[in-house]
Parts: sequence; C-alpha cells; structure tokens
Amino acid sequence: MGNPALQKIAKPVVDPTTPEITTLAQDMRDTLEDIGASGLAAPQIMVNLRVVVYRMISARIPRGSGLTPVPWTVMVNPKITPQTEVKTEIWERCLSIPGLHGKVPRWPEISIQYQTLKGDSISQNAHSSWAALLQHECDHLDGILYPARMTDLSLLSYNDEPGPLAYDIANNKKIDPLFIDLVDNWPARNHWFPDSKE
Ligand code: NI
Repeated sequence: MGNPALQKIAKPVVDPTTPEITTLAQDMRDTLEDIGASGLAAPQIMVNLRVVVYRMISARIPRGSGLTPVPWTVMVNPKITPQTEVKTEIWERCLSIPGLHGKVPRWPEISIQYQTLKGDSISQNAHSSWAALLQHECDHLDGILYPARMTDLSLLSYNDEPGPLAYDIANNKKIDPLFIDLVDNWPARNHWFPDSKE
C-alpha cells in the first residue's frame, strides 16, 4: 500500500491471446499458489495491465453461502456491473496490505464480463463473497485498495487483534473460514470472550 503501481488506472489489454499475457497469467497463478491466496491483479506484481487471476477453494467458502468452488480463472479486461442497489459489508484482506483486515461495503450480486486468454468473451453472475472477491480484484485495476472503500475505519484491524471481527463472528457464522481462524487463533480471545469454547 502506497506504492504508485497500486494507485494507477491499469491499461486495457489489446490482445488477450498473446504469449506475453499467457505468461503473465501463469506468473500470477504461480504467485497465488505459492502464498496460498485467492486472487491477484497484475498491478500487484508491478504490471500495469487489466488482468486478474483468481480461484475459490472450498476452505474459503462461508458456511451457508450457497457458493461452490471456482477453478483457476484468468480474467482479461474485466468489467463489473452491480445487480443490486445496496451494498453489504464483508471482511477482506489484501496481499498488498499485509497484517490487516477490514470490513468493506460490496455489492452482494454482480455480473462480470471479461475476456479469456483465448479471446472469448464471458459474462457471468456472482454473489456474496465470490462477488466481493471479484470487486476487490477489479478495484486493483483502478488503483483502489479496500481501505478506500471502507466507510467505518474502526473496522480496520491487525490480524492478531481481530476484535471487531470477533464480535461480528459471535453474531454471524456466514463468514469466510479464514477469518474465523483469525479469531480462533487470537491470543487474547479468552480475555475478551471468556465464554467462548471453540
Ligand atoms: Ni488485494
């Protein structure tokens, strides 16, 4: 966060079928697999192009969300269209903001249009945390990091002090398991939630 590469409007890809774009997408996927994350936008590896790579593994799907895993997907020149009027808040982290998490307003239903590495045009709908992930990644292409989307900065916390998240989880189980783990592993949890067992 703060690097000018993360604050630019990324350039559209003229031809998604070139070997350069295929290599870029493979580099991004390798990076994601290496760190075990879900999504990456090209500006995060200092490439100023509108390319996003993501996946959704079952271990990151909130219980009761109705989502199913999404295999590795490369999106070239993605464009999001909201399908609702009202945003809902969802917990997020970002590889470009290590050590922090925050609760971010996102549209719960979107459609997204993008090109594949073969040049095909895809249009699909996404909801809940899948939709939020796509909004997060596409924001990177416009130089926007999640804190800039937050309306309540008291919900921005260090990963090892997840107080607001813990209060939220106490009332709402429909949360990405990664965040539930943050609270489960919170050293001070028993101090603030003496009744919590598991
Ligand atoms: Ni990010």
